[in-house]
Amino acid sequence: MACFTRFAALLSFLALVPLCLSAKTMGGYLYPQFYDHSCPRVQEIVKSVVAKAVAREARTAASLLRLHFHDCFVKGCDASLLLDSTGSIVSEKMSNPNRNSARRFEVLDEIKSALEKECPHTVSCADILALAARDSTVLTGGPSWEVPLGRRDSREASLSGSNNNIPAPNNTFQTILTKFKLQGLDIVDLVALSGSHTIGNSRCTSFRQRLYNQTGNGKPDFTLDQSYAAQLRGRCPRSGGDQNLFFLDFVSPVHFDNSYFKNLLAYKGLLNSDQILVTQNQASMELVKKYAENNELFFEQFAKSMVKMGNVSPLTGSRGEIRKNCRKINSH
Ligand code: HEM
Ligand SMILES: *[C@@H]1O[C@H](CO)[C@@H](O)[C@H](O)[C@H]1NC(C)=O
Ligand SMILES: *[C@@H]1O[C@H](CO)[C@@H](O)[C@H](O)[C@H]1NC(C)=O
Repeated sequence: MACFTRFAALLSFLALVPLCLSAKTMGGYLYPQFYDHSCPRVQEIVKSVVAKAVAREARTAASLLRLHFHDCFVKGCDASLLLDSTGSIVSEKMSNPNRNSARRFEVLDEIKSALEKECPHTVSCADILALAARDSTVLTGGPSWEVPLGRRDSREASLSGSNNNIPAPNNTFQTILTKFKLQGLDIVDLVALSGSHTIGNSRCTSFRQRLYNQTGNGKPDFTLDQSYAAQLRGRCPRSGGDQNLFFLDFVSPVHFDNSYFKNLLAYKGLLNSDQILVTQNQASMELVKKYAENNELFFEQFAKSMVKMGNVSPLTGSRGEIRKNCRKINSH
């Protein structure tokens, strides 16, 4: 809609036409008022279930935020991530990035069943993920934004998409940036969205390589603060302890703020994929500095980039379906 307004206001600038077309192929058509008539209390209901779950366990906010990311990077934001394995479906939950890691699916079940009572067969699981990610950010002290809605749910999952599209913590800067660009996201989005690691946990297995044998020469990553590294080795041994948990932002682990970026400048990023934002690329390093200096700027960009990520190839119109149960496709 913003696209048409701008188009009307600047009719003489024909250069805007391709912009509008690309907004369409990127999945324009989502808008915040989508459920205003069909399910007016949707936002209230999602928020109250998320708030209860986060009150029970603070990490839930991080886990829900991450699920929206892992959904959107695989065939678009279509709740493909939420499907369990059946005869015809191999669940994305079994992929390398998700196995023993993606969690709190039961919170989405709880939201879905509350919404099925309030307005049956109306709100998609993909929209629930987008709303829960926003609410999780706000509940932990981060920025708010209006969530464009109207996504529909896929009838398929993609295990290979999950393995290939979602960046790995030991990918190079170029590989990670390429994986973002394949989703229509740029370096600004990459740095801002990596700021999600201001909350939540990582397992030892996701960063062990940095502590012992970063490049295969038996030496730790020299871009990791050595006293921080020594501390991490205490609970992340050379072998064993794979599932031991560590805060992604040790300064304020359950508070959404810019301390993640400050940590990176002190060489105290937990994941290799975090630290390389300041060690492998000048442009991303400058963005990290800006967000470390200016929390408001980080919040503003984070909100914009979340909307952009939420717009990756949604199913709209008559494509896909509104699942009754987020874990399985509807039977026909
Ligand atoms: C830039 C590339 C990224 C990489 C390589 C990456 C990798 C990871 C890894 C390895 C973990 C720990 C998983 C585990 O050990 O169980 C993690 C956790 C997390 N990631 Fe990312 N991530 C990236 C971007 C993002 C983005 C874009 C978001 C959200 C928009 C995000 C949100 C989170 C959150 C909130 C957690 C904590 C989850 C929890 O505690 O349950 N990450 N990420
Ligand atoms: C990255 O980590 C994976 C999984 O632990 C490992 O198999 C792979 O060899 C690592 N890649 C590099 C370049 O170190
Ligand atoms: C480090 O990794 C390399 C290559 O993966 C391996 O050959 C070597 O034995 C490892 N060194 C140590 C000390 O673990």
